Amino acid sequence: LQWIGGVDGYLQLIDQTRLPGALQLVSCRSDEDVWQAIRQLQVRGAPAIGIAAAYGVLLGLQPLLANGSYAAADPREFFARVDRVGDFLATSRPTAVNLFWALRRMRDRAAELRREGVRPQQAAESLLAEAQAIEAEDRQMCRRIGQHGASLLRDGQGVLTHCNAGGLATADYGTALAMLFAAHEQGKRLRVYVDETRPLLQGARLTTWELMQRGIETVLICDSAAAHVMQQGLVQAVVTGADRIAASGDTANKIGTYALAQLAAAHGIPFYVAAPSTTFDLQIDSGDQIPIEQREADEVAAPLGCRAAPDGVKVYNPAFDVTPARLITAIVCEHGIIRPVQREHIVHMLCGPPVGSGR
Ligand code: MRU
Repeated sequence: LQWIGGVDGYLQLIDQTRLPGALQLVSCRSDEDVWQAIRQLQVRGAPAIGIAAAYGVLLGLQPLLANGSYAAADPREFFARVDRVGDFLATSRPTAVNLFWALRRMRDRAAELRREGVRPQQAAESLLAEAQAIEAEDRQMCRRIGQHGASLLRDGQGVLTHCNAGGLATADYGTALAMLFAAHEQGKRLRVYVDETRPLLQGARLTTWELMQRGIETVLICDSAAAHVMQQGLVQAVVTGADRIAASGDTANKIGTYALAQLAAAHGIPFYVAAPSTTFDLQIDSGDQIPIEQREADEVAAPLGCRAAPDGVKVYNPAFDVTPARLITAIVCEHGIIRPVQREHIVHMLCGPPVGSGR
């Protein structure tokens, strides 16, 4: 993800639907472009969606530009537009809370600027700085997740991961993959089993691509091979990312994650989730309140444009599932390792010790 230029600039991103066949950049020049890019998974992964949406707010303001400047824009219209564009971008995908978190942050910043009587040109510059800060902070959070998470992995281990929680899904270093990248940089030799991740193959297409570029031993498996691989004793840890974590620790992630957590528990293998604080949704108590995205039938019946089932077959295509907290050994965030995964530990890690605790 990269913002090119000033307030009249645009968002450039790697088209993840084309990988690994082609490394192609797309330019988003309107909020509608960003909406489509998120919806069609050209940009995907919870943190990356949030960052793209933050820049999308800037693009949604640009119809008010005249000669590359907001000098002549009406302040009332400018600030009302931030809210409208935010509402629109929030409809692109429902599950990853980073999207709503980033849009809320942009709106809050705009409200602050409005209260201070800041004129549109300067307000736009401040909003661009806010989006850039969201991106820069994500980069730092990923690095810290990598440092904390690497301590959970041992030299010579087999690790299983699902979907893609790497650099493509974040500002640069990933979450679950950050743990692997950091462990690898520390000299730990890992063999990473990558679930292909049906139906859209984020594991096969994206995670293998990222791991292999870093010289990490990568073994692609069918999703349905995970139980067998664990039974054979090839895996000593499972690491995944997250799209939304409830206050209880229940975690929504790519469909298939819950099955892996059950399998890991059945085989006595630790199951780790890695996610920045921006993926936690402390407003909701438990995983059953997390909205699960339902996607088009053709993603399953004709994945990546290749027909695999009869025309007209009924399809159920939830894009995410929820792993109950009791199946998660630890959650790694930028502040440290949350273990056991329980509400009080989560709140303590994210918000600090309770007032009056004397610490
Ligand atoms: O549908 P996707 O590809 O956006 O799903 C992404 C995932 O489930 C990732 O594991 C999650 O967003 C974590 S990304 C650091």
